[in-house]
Amino acid sequence: MKIVIALIIYLFTMHGNAELPLEIWLQAQEKISIQRMMQNISPSGTIPGTVIASPSKNSPNYYFHWIRDASLTFDQVVTLFKNSKDVDQRNFYLHRIQEFIQLSQKQQFAPGAEGLGEPRYLVDGSADTIAWSRPQSDGPALRALTLLNFLKILSDNKPLRLETEIVIHTDLDYIADHWSRPCFDLWEEVKGLHFYTQSVQAASLWAGYDYFKNTQDTEFAKKLKSAALAVDQELLKYWDREKKIIDASRDLTHLPNSQYKYSNLDSAVILAALHSYAFDEDRYRLSEPSIRRDYFLPTALALELVFTQIYDINLGSNAPAIGRFADDVYFAGNPWYMTTAAFAEFYFRVATVIKKSEFIQINELNIDFFQNALSKYHGQEPSLHLTADQNIAVQSATGRRLLASLYYRGNSFLETLRRYTGSQGEMSEQFDRRAGVPVSAPDLTWSYAGFLSALQARAVFLSSGMSSLPKPIFLLQD
Ligand code: NOJ
Ligand code: NOJ
Repeated sequence: MKIVIALIIYLFTMHGNAELPLEIWLQAQEKISIQRMMQNISPSGTIPGTVIASPSKNSPNYYFHWIRDASLTFDQVVTLFKNSKDVDQRNFYLHRIQEFIQLSQKQQFAPGAEGLGEPRYLVDGSADTIAWSRPQSDGPALRALTLLNFLKILSDNKPLRLETEIVIHTDLDYIADHWSRPCFDLWEEVKGLHFYTQSVQAASLWAGYDYFKNTQDTEFAKKLKSAALAVDQELLKYWDREKKIIDASRDLTHLPNSQYKYSNLDSAVILAALHSYAFDEDRYRLSEPSIRRDYFLPTALALELVFTQIYDINLGSNAPAIGRFADDVYFAGNPWYMTTAAFAEFYFRVATVIKKSEFIQINELNIDFFQNALSKYHGQEPSLHLTADQNIAVQSATGRRLLASLYYRGNSFLETLRRYTGSQGEMSEQFDRRAGVPVSAPDLTWSYAGFLSALQARAVFLSSGMSSLPKPIFLLQD
């Protein structure tokens, strides 16, 4: 009896309580992130609609409007607009979005040397003429996706709808014509073909097709569909059967040295899963992506293992801080806030997909990923062993336990993020791999946007009835 009581107290302090402080931190950090993200939108002295990547003007100078960062940020603003009940607040967000659309139109019209492949603009809206890695063609795809999301929730505003359609049309037309052209990757370092870039391109073409097929412009819809089908085929070529990972890039022509990025293992692939909605049912309604969801799982696990090994701060931690790729040297190559947030989001999204299905089929590709989540959750040798041909009913005890372990693993990544967030809730671009303190660009807009995106994925998972899932105590007793 004494042992049982001691065990219950132990479990409660170790696990039952652990949820509470995280929950409180998440709520506070959400507010701070929204506030700090919004501060980087149209700060004084910039043309309205501008998103500075960070207020930092030197070492590094991030006082520019990157299309990629800006589009991912505005995707969060669109969500804030959608979720705000207060009329003034709604109008405030709507106004910001409108400014972004107007600025986008201006930039598309006077785009600079690489046309729509220009990665970034000056804060007065004009083209950047500084020597830089160009072209980069993920930007137009991300912008189109953000604006298509916006149109889904915009009602009764015909002029704004038409204006937005024009911007989307221009972006998608560019993508349909240029998707096969080599460009620089999202990290602005290597030139070739990239899984991230082509994934978001495919997603935007499909989403665009879905939208324009219901308009007068059916010819354009057809063009988008045929490009989308072609990019989907292209995506298959990144699957590395031997290494069991999705490769980050192919046909690289511009490399700092021949060994650089030899592993081809890059967290850009996990960002690709998130930003191309690979775990979203809507994406599947249009067309099943050629890259199977199961391909992402061993890739994610391989990344977790690599970062566990290379960063000192990951020693003994449950969920490792995540960086870009192993041989990164930018600011000495550290973990990043937004890639760590992406892993949390990834677990929540995987868990949500599973929760909506009836069965989960364990196979050679996904078994290690699931087994790892189960064992990490227990913090001891796994007592539940999966086998590669197991078909688990999601509602069975095993299924629910697996689901719970994925959700709690997402939380563990948020715990890791919390450990390295500044005392005022500030997130820079990276945190030092040894000291764990914020480094590189302070107040990186994308760090906040990435965190907010992870929170939403968590909320979606929880809103579909987490109460029916086993709590940690049950998991440990099981
Ligand atoms: C600046 C880029 O934005 C960053 O991603 C890259 O690692 C460095 N330049 C070094 O090329
Ligand atoms: C460097 C990152 O590699 C790139 O993806 C980003 O767009 C810029 N910094 C600005 O944040």
